[in-house]
Amino acid sequence: MQLELMQRGKFITFEGSEGCGKSTQIRRFVDHLKDCGLEVLTTREPGGTVVGEKIRHLLQFDQEAADMTPESELLLFAASRAQLVRSEIAPALERGTWVVADRFLDSTTVYQGIARGLDLASVKAINAFAVGETRPDLTILLDLDVEVGHSRAVAASAGKEDRMEAQPMAFFHSVRQGYLDLAKEEPGRIAVIDASVSIDEVTAAIQAEFAERVGEVGA
Ligand code: TMP
Repeated sequence: MQLELMQRGKFITFEGSEGCGKSTQIRRFVDHLKDCGLEVLTTREPGGTVVGEKIRHLLQFDQEAADMTPESELLLFAASRAQLVRSEIAPALERGTWVVADRFLDSTTVYQGIARGLDLASVKAINAFAVGETRPDLTILLDLDVEVGHSRAVAASAGKEDRMEAQPMAFFHSVRQGYLDLAKEEPGRIAVIDASVSIDEVTAAIQAEFAERVGEVGA
């Protein structure tokens, strides 16, 4: 019997602040990978599992959870991710499926560590515990002016803004700067894409970065 070594799938994450156009770009990017003949799993955070979706509701929409402390918030995001990594992401990568994630551990570093101001060493340790060895091969950071992103997000949520969207503008300025600082620390992994141009131009920029960093894919 011939044993074939299965090649691990690639793990690509998308990050960015509210209203940066992540969902649209992820849809287009995943379509492109599938057109290249790849099998792709798409995930979103918080959520993506039964445990994670309950945590998502608690974190974003449950009025009774309005007095949640930043420490609880951090641990809940980490718990949702720990479940998703072990039940979905790691097994998919193992069997050669590519994974495209709408947010991953950089969101926790930036939103809870930098914008909420929690101790960064603790955030790093909790992140590491939650994901283990499962780290992104490439991260696409969609960068956009905070005011533009906020007004897009408010329009999209049609009056039903969640707990995070209701934060003051200073919070989102810290988020944007936090992401840009992270990209400077890890330029090999994080590609910064200008999300202020047209949807098609953003898609083209993502594909160009991807081709340069990952190369040709598929059959
Ligand atoms: P989204 O589904 O629109 O991306 O919303 C998720 C919200 O949760 C967004 O405001 C970012 C926030 N968030 C964190 O604060 N920490 C995290 O670890 C993750 C995954 C998301």
